[in-house]
Amino acid sequence: MQPRIVVTRRIPDPALELLARAGKMWLSPHDRPLTRTELQRSVSGADALVTLLHDRVDGPLLDAAGPQLRCVANVAVGYDNIDVAAATERGVVVTNTPGVLTDATADLALALILAVTRRLGDGERLLRARIPWSWHMFFMLGTGLQGKTLGVIGLGAIGQATARRARAFGMNIAYTSRRPAPREVEAELGGARRLPLDELLSTADVVTIHVPLSPNTHHLIDAERLRQMRPEAYLINTARGPIVDERALARALKTQELAGAGLDVFEREPEIDPELLELDNVVLVPHLGSATVETRTAMAVLAAQNVIAVLRRERPPTPINPEVLDPAGAPAPGA
Ligand code: GLV
Repeated sequence: MQPRIVVTRRIPDPALELLARAGKMWLSPHDRPLTRTELQRSVSGADALVTLLHDRVDGPLLDAAGPQLRCVANVAVGYDNIDVAAATERGVVVTNTPGVLTDATADLALALILAVTRRLGDGERLLRARIPWSWHMFFMLGTGLQGKTLGVIGLGAIGQATARRARAFGMNIAYTSRRPAPREVEAELGGARRLPLDELLSTADVVTIHVPLSPNTHHLIDAERLRQMRPEAYLINTARGPIVDERALARALKTQELAGAGLDVFEREPEIDPELLELDNVVLVPHLGSATVETRTAMAVLAAQNVIAVLRRERPPTPINPEVLDPAGAPAPGA
């Protein structure tokens, strides 16, 4: 019998074509996230799920799929929407899409750094409001990046790629990380210095977040930590919204305890703290980190390749819980 593959929302065609050849594919007809009830109904009897970051995949949903479920392929590098322990307990392989979105996300982090420090949002709003203006020496002055310090919270692949781009703009790099980066990485980043978080926050000119969301990083940047930042500093978040206490950030921006922020992600997406929407010193974009045609296609194809490998009992390219696989790489017997 052909395996049933459930795709919870439309993904790029090359991936759909691969999946359609690999089994009996069900694709959600809706151009929106499925409701919890719809999700529970649609996963029933699935051998593999292709999920997006707005789908909550927990124990009850895995049970609604049934014991034949072998794979959940998340089309995202982040997988905070998935209860990986619950999947592991049930012998379900979970995969994500690392690597293919590193450059696009780092590009967006840099774009936000430039947009907020050079006041591109302010400039756009002024012109679109048809407000009269003329060039003068003090008009809409921003902040230069050359010789300033970029504080990178989490020097993984995206953190490193962002730091490399910032070097091209003449910035020095400081970082926090559970383990020191290899010496060659520190050297490539112009002698990047690993600092404790408190010191990084109190010294960096721009702080950019590149850690995954987990219970340890939820509200990692809270009111207290925002107070540690310099009033001339900027905060950039392209990782996950709940890493920052959005309400506290809005307050710090309003009272100018912080010069500005660039946000691609929000605590309660798609909601945005209404106070943030009123502020000029924050650049807001709707979770666009990986949003290029090339990257989204590569992410979806990688997710499809993960599904296909698991269904063939081969090692998937990017498993999150490889312990579910037997030593040969296939889902362990009974999984
Ligand atoms: C996007 O946010 C991702 O995790 O891929």
